[in-house]
Amino acid sequence: MDTNAEKKYFFEALSLLYEMQWLHNIAVTEILTKASLDAIPKEWIEHLRILENEELNNLIARRTIKSEWPDSLKTYVEKCQNINRLPLVQTSPFRIELPQKFKIGLSRKKQHEIIHLAHLVHTQCKLHDIQTIVDLGAGLGYVCQMLHYLYGYRVLGLERDKENVNRACIRQEKLYPDSLTKVKYIHCDVTRDSADTIEFILQQEFPGFTDACLIGLHACGDLSASASRIFCKIKSAKLFILISCCYHKLSISKNIQTPLQEKQYFHNFPTSNCLRETIAGHNFDIGQFLRVPFLRLACQESADKWHDMSKEKHDEHSFHVLARAVLELYSQQSRRP
Ligand SMILES: C[S@@+](CC[C@H](N)C(=O)[O-])C[C@H]1O[C@@H](n2cnc3c(N)ncnc32)[C@H](O)[C@@H]1O
Repeated sequence: MDTNAEKKYFFEALSLLYEMQWLHNIAVTEILTKASLDAIPKEWIEHLRILENEELNNLIARRTIKSEWPDSLKTYVEKCQNINRLPLVQTSPFRIELPQKFKIGLSRKKQHEIIHLAHLVHTQCKLHDIQTIVDLGAGLGYVCQMLHYLYGYRVLGLERDKENVNRACIRQEKLYPDSLTKVKYIHCDVTRDSADTIEFILQQEFPGFTDACLIGLHACGDLSASASRIFCKIKSAKLFILISCCYHKLSISKNIQTPLQEKQYFHNFPTSNCLRETIAGHNFDIGQFLRVPFLRLACQESADKWHDMSKEKHDEHSFHVLARAVLELYSQQSRRP
């Protein structure tokens, strides 16, 4: 996209998110306390209520519109379709069965993630003849061990939670003792200013290393933004592969309490210059409508999840959503004098 097309896209997305904030600007647990259900346009309810299970799935996953719907609902669905930029989900090009010791304590989702990320990292590192990898926010070291086991990389896992570092080391000693000199776990709170520290640790742990690849899997909140800045500063870092997550954990730079709600502004949002310029150019007050609940929504699975969802699954899902909202309502009401 050229810059004008990007700005147009961002303007349309911001306008829709502003207009529809009754839908996304409130935590799911607060849909009863903040009366979100009352905000659904009355003219939509009669049509949404009578949808068959498959029609509901098609509305969400394929944005299928029915001719008898009111214009406001049709327009909303069309706008959602227009701002959707998610790529098609790719099916896996290969299957590797993990050795048993790699499956211990790992869900199938986690196994899928680490094996596919390791494969992607290897494909790229091979092209650039890179032998050393730095995993930012390494957690318990699942990807680190996989990268070493499958492809023989030297891996430095940096992690700010000491308990995680200990657990990664214990796991390594127990399950992968052969990797002790090649996979290192170090306690480190990675910030935007950590470039020198990381270079120092790398030289200490892997003396004489040359080029490195920085990776992050589920690098939550500010860690993704810090990692991007660090990548630009570390000379030996030649590749950067990042999967962000938990945007709602971004640190807040400014809170403003208003009679209706708290406005929230973040240190690292937005990171895109183009989005920032679009916001300023159209005077959007993003602290009002792109708050924690919006960022939390951005971490959710895509609408594809609704593709073949069964009625039972929908019932279970809606029960859980409402049960949490009822608990919140109860807790708020019982707090009142
Ligand atoms: C969602 S977990 C992902 C762990 C691992 N990458 C994985 O996918 O299994 C995010 C990890 O990043 C760590 N983390 C968050 N911010 C960090 C920071 N600023 N510096 C280092 N680690 C951080 C957390 O403690 C946590 O272990």
